[in-house]
Amino acid sequence: MSKKDSILLGVNVDHVATLRQARGINYPDPVQMALIAEKNGADSITVHLREDRRHIQDHDVERLIAVIETRVNLEMAATEEMVDIACLLKPYDCCLVPEKRQELTTEGGLDVFSQREELAASIGRLKKSGIRVSLFVDPDPKQIESCQMVGADAIEIHTGLYADSPNITDQEYELNRIKECAIHGDRIGLRVNAGHGLHYENTAEVAAIKEIRELNIGHSIISKSIDLGIAGAVQEMKAIMAKARK
Ligand code: PXP
Repeated sequence: MSKKDSILLGVNVDHVATLRQARGINYPDPVQMALIAEKNGADSITVHLREDRRHIQDHDVERLIAVIETRVNLEMAATEEMVDIACLLKPYDCCLVPEKRQELTTEGGLDVFSQREELAASIGRLKKSGIRVSLFVDPDPKQIESCQMVGADAIEIHTGLYADSPNITDQEYELNRIKECAIHGDRIGLRVNAGHGLHYENTAEVAAIKEIRELNIGHSIISKSIDLGIAGAVQEMKAIMAKARK
């Protein structure tokens, strides 16, 4: 099978950590969930170490890198602090993303051109540590070309606008932009990944784009695991309570 006949899945486990941090305890463990994801077909594990540490913590990244057999893709802002951490921990991949303190999730792609000098310096440091570097960008040809200019190995095309489209016409327009940018990125030698907002109803159309090598998906997969798991979880607690009264 050629590379373009298959597509890889990176599972983002941030939201497992969100649930843990909501109580400040030690479960559920994103690293354990990552191992289960990997055993069940995940080709890589993505975590976003945010500057405010609202979900994934530094020790999660360290433990993940120690136990994961596939690849760890560390999403982060291109700050000195984060680049230092990545160079020390050496994940297989780093995806640089824009980050705003107040946002609920990453809201859009990087403006690569306007930050080209800073980004080129961060990318240079990461690559020197043996890390493959991807830039999270909107499906805009100018941004894709800027990624090549600053020395990125890969791009992750932001699929959020496609996912959030209010109607079919807008969604088709956004899908087409993603497709054109995927073809363009691949043609100029960048590895093309995509992600954000993909779920069980909107992923197939993006996964069909042959130039896309990997999709990074988080929220919908973690949500689905609750749908699939709540029956067993309630049964197990009922059984414990019933046994205690015997
Ligand atoms: N890719 C990037 C760059 C992201 O920032 C995120 C969210 O952390 C994802 C993919 C996954 O998005 P979602 O959780 O909506 O699947």
